[in-house]
Amino acid sequence: MADSPEFHDRLLSLGLARVSEAAALASADFVGRGDEKAADQAAVNAMRNQLNMLDIQGVVVIGEGERDEAPMLFIGEEVGSGAGPAVDIALDPLEGTTLTAKDMPNALTVIAMAPRGTLLHAPDVYMDKLAIGPGFARDTVTLDMPPAERVHALARAKGCDVDDITVCILERPRHEDLIREVRSTGAAIRLITDGDVAGVMHVAEPDLTGIDMYMGAGGAPEGVLAAAALKCMGGQIYGRLQFRNDDERARAAKAGITDLDRIYTRDEMVTADVIFSATGVTDGSILPGMKREPGWLTTETLLMRSKTGSVRRMRYRTPAK
Ligand code: FBP
Repeated sequence: MADSPEFHDRLLSLGLARVSEAAALASADFVGRGDEKAADQAAVNAMRNQLNMLDIQGVVVIGEGERDEAPMLFIGEEVGSGAGPAVDIALDPLEGTTLTAKDMPNALTVIAMAPRGTLLHAPDVYMDKLAIGPGFARDTVTLDMPPAERVHALARAKGCDVDDITVCILERPRHEDLIREVRSTGAAIRLITDGDVAGVMHVAEPDLTGIDMYMGAGGAPEGVLAAAALKCMGGQIYGRLQFRNDDERARAAKAGITDLDRIYTRDEMVTADVIFSATGVTDGSILPGMKREPGWLTTETLLMRSKTGSVRRMRYRTPAK
């Protein structure tokens, strides 16, 4: 029993919760302190240390950047003790560095683990994303539909009025036309300043978050992390890489991507069972942030396995340092 893959998988998932937890705890002293770099560095160090304690032969496929630009948790870095299963690791030790520095909602620490060769090696470029929650037929909405048509299609599928739909979009100048078009339908928009992994995850629990659909361009690495989350929570996500110059196209080539116009579905970004763990740094609709009480620090972690559909929420209290 102890040697069965099932046993390892279950045990490893609990280990993964410790990894996102450690990154969050390390960033605690930097919440609201205006120093994004210091917050990120603390989270990176802690995540790497904790990850290296896991019995895995891990390779970072979504990480802090290319080897020449990130000293730690760079793409291709081998992590783990070197014993145990061969796995791909996708991570963002602090998703929302600015949110953390400004103590704004929805900063998370995030990590996903899947069998080797099953996570999309997304280059560090933008990805146009579209996501909806569980319970809808495949291709209810698609990236090829104009934004207004997506809103109407989702309202039809939900059996509600268009003005009962809320769309989450990153507030960026590049999204001005998108925002105008979505507003023209009568749908509501929740604008977020950062953090589109959480933005996409909102669609999986519309009753809790009030968000029905996510649209717009954000980081491609964050797109793969969001796909991993939705594979566990339910829901659909589509992503198409966007390239602004030859350097970005070269990054795709280096990652082995040849079809630059391809639309990836959730299960093409994450092709096998995945374990996903996120810990709240600042308060958000998906996860509460860390809480300080005299002498104590408490975190909440969302730990999920796509294989079983299990969703655990784990509270962890530790003496404050
Ligand atoms: P950081 O974790 O580096 O702060 O990134 C936050 C983020 O908002 C992501 O969630 C999102 O995908 C990306 O930045 C958007 O990029 P940009 O700020 O260039 O629009």
